[in-house]
Amino acid sequence: MNAVLLGYGTVGKGVEILCRNVEGLNLKQVFVLPELEDLPYFSNDGKGMVTRVDIDIVFECLSGTEPSNTLITLALEHGKHVITSNKATVSPNLERYVEIAKKTGGSIQIEASVAGGIPFLDAILKLQKLEEIRGYQGIFNGTSNYILDQMQKNGMELDVALKQAQAMGYAEADPTNDIEGIDVYYKTNITNMLAYNTKNDKIRKPIGITRLNTGDIELAKEHKKVIRHLSISKQKEGHFASIIAPAFLSQSHYLANVPDNYNAQLIFADSFDYLGYFGQGAGQLATAQAMLANAIDTMENRERKIDLQFHKTVDESLLKVNWIVRCKKGLEKADRTQAIDENTSYYWFEQKDASIIDTILDHDKEAMIALWM
Ligand SMILES: NC(=O)c1ccc[n+]([C@@H]2O[C@H](COP(=O)([O-])OP(=O)(O)OC[C@H]3O[C@@H](n4cnc5c(N)ncnc54)[C@H](OP(=O)(O)O)[C@@H]3O)[C@@H](O)[C@H]2O)c1
Repeated sequence: MNAVLLGYGTVGKGVEILCRNVEGLNLKQVFVLPELEDLPYFSNDGKGMVTRVDIDIVFECLSGTEPSNTLITLALEHGKHVITSNKATVSPNLERYVEIAKKTGGSIQIEASVAGGIPFLDAILKLQKLEEIRGYQGIFNGTSNYILDQMQKNGMELDVALKQAQAMGYAEADPTNDIEGIDVYYKTNITNMLAYNTKNDKIRKPIGITRLNTGDIELAKEHKKVIRHLSISKQKEGHFASIIAPAFLSQSHYLANVPDNYNAQLIFADSFDYLGYFGQGAGQLATAQAMLANAIDTMENRERKIDLQFHKTVDESLLKVNWIVRCKKGLEKADRTQAIDENTSYYWFEQKDASIIDTILDHDKEAMIALWM
């Protein structure tokens, strides 16, 4: 089969390298900015490339949502198999891509857009055909995990750990999407659609890791807890709920022991109770490998189709959890709470759904809010 590649950055170069290992897969052209298109293999004519009649597969690994969205749409309209790592483009557009692919005989394959090198979406897509997935929990952002691991192990402040993550190449120059949870928000939207076979429904804004400080880490240690940034989700009777927030986890929790920039997930279903995944959630070859796995499935004519058959809606009351909050004193007036320690302004909320976040932020916009699991 013939393929073209959109985007020649970290992931794109990895795709080019791994394409050489796949017999019968020929990379014909690479879409780059005008200043790089002097060689015949490179081109800035993205529209021309994705509509070439001799092309079957379009690898898309551009940054940002444009021209990514335009080129994916065009490729699907021309019946191509589009394989993308771009969660920012996929998250708001997947429904539309699936509809176009159904009409034209193309496909949209997105393994690399969530959990990078871990075959997590593949497992989700297979399982949801067999039984109702009860939910999942996971660490989906390596940068946040690296920062929290460093704060926990070496007592670093968050900004020092962030600078170290940037020096190691784990965090971008602008780390906002990673540390504010926006990257995990895209991945959670995508996973919800696939896991629950549903069109998109708006979940609550994420809580990132930026409010955490070394005092919180100390408190976690005193209580034999480890702080990790999680996305947790649950489905029941046509509805689902998701929370994206830091979590104080018991040391024995599967996700508490995920080091450095690694990712991990748990999937919950009746047939096995829970199943764990662990690995590199990003990185050049780890991510490219997931894209090539989609390409090999396509070449063998067994790509996993995405349907999004139902229209399930968010019901936050499905997911009741314990919360720990550090905020201005006096929160007990707003709701029934229990101060963890008389001398501090930490509070503990038992079995509340995510709507409690509104109450807390009304009381103190700067509050640190986390799960207690
Ligand atoms: N890096 C990872 O480990 C990882 C993991 C999973 C998913 N992803 C996703 O995969 C995608 C690629 O990530 P990356 O790390 O490879 O990013 P990257 O290194 O920034 O590469 C993106 C490439 O797209 C090019 N590009 C942007 N706009 C373009 C345009 N208008 N015309 C031509 N080229 C254009 C950039 O060119 P310039 O640099 O010249 O602007 C760059 O070469 C992103 O959507 C990211 O979220 C990345």
